[in-house]
Amino acid sequence: MRQPIIAGNWKMNGSRASIKQLLDGIKAGIGEVKAAEVAVCAPSIYIADVAEQLAGTPVAWGGQNLSTEEKGAFTGEIAASMLLDFGCKYVIVGHSERRTLYGEDDQLVAQKFAVARKAGLTPILCVGETLEEREKGITEDVVARQLNAVIDLEGIEALVDGVIAYEPVWAIGTGKTATPEQAQETHASIRKMMADKDAAVAEKVRIQYGGSMNAANAAELLAMADIDGGLIGGASLKADDFLTICKAAG
Ligand code: 13P
Repeated sequence: MRQPIIAGNWKMNGSRASIKQLLDGIKAGIGEVKAAEVAVCAPSIYIADVAEQLAGTPVAWGGQNLSTEEKGAFTGEIAASMLLDFGCKYVIVGHSERRTLYGEDDQLVAQKFAVARKAGLTPILCVGETLEEREKGITEDVVARQLNAVIDLEGIEALVDGVIAYEPVWAIGTGKTATPEQAQETHASIRKMMADKDAAVAEKVRIQYGGSMNAANAAELLAMADIDGGLIGGASLKADDFLTICKAAG
């Protein structure tokens, strides 16, 4: 059985005050979340605050990006060791915003996955197609290409140390969620891609859905056989909504 995992991706949102309030709300209700693993991925500058506030709670935390370099003259970058220094368990790699706005390609994302994994972080590898790609009918090819970049670099077994997040780009921040059937179809195809290489890996790896998942639609998405959790943007900024999603996962 795969333990469901709900992770908040706060993106570039929040302030010290709003994050304190959000985390107070999450901490107050987390006891009602029975089965799901819960994490929040904060802007780097707030990770120290988050670490302090979440220490000793069941909620894990992580970063939203990392450098492929260990240390040195890389202005503005954050190393895996720095995330670990502040108790991060997770780090998001290959979010579509980083791929499209910051030019991160499959190879760079695969390197980030590798660096995170080797450092002992759990990478959350984001994959997903644009609307144009979906309309062309090449969703599976795009997702396979993104996944294969990691498999080619690290081997199929490396995926067990990470989490995959299927995030159709057209559903991110748009309020347009993939239907449970649409999401399940792609999740099943991702699982099959892995199973064709290694059935045991495919059985173990958790695949989150992301893209306008919210308190109202989470339960039906999470009920699908191959949806093992959610990567939540907007709805993770409100404690009640985030907790409702966490509870919907069990
Ligand atoms: P929204 O939930 O705001 O659509 O964002 C999803 C996302 O990109 C999570 O990484």
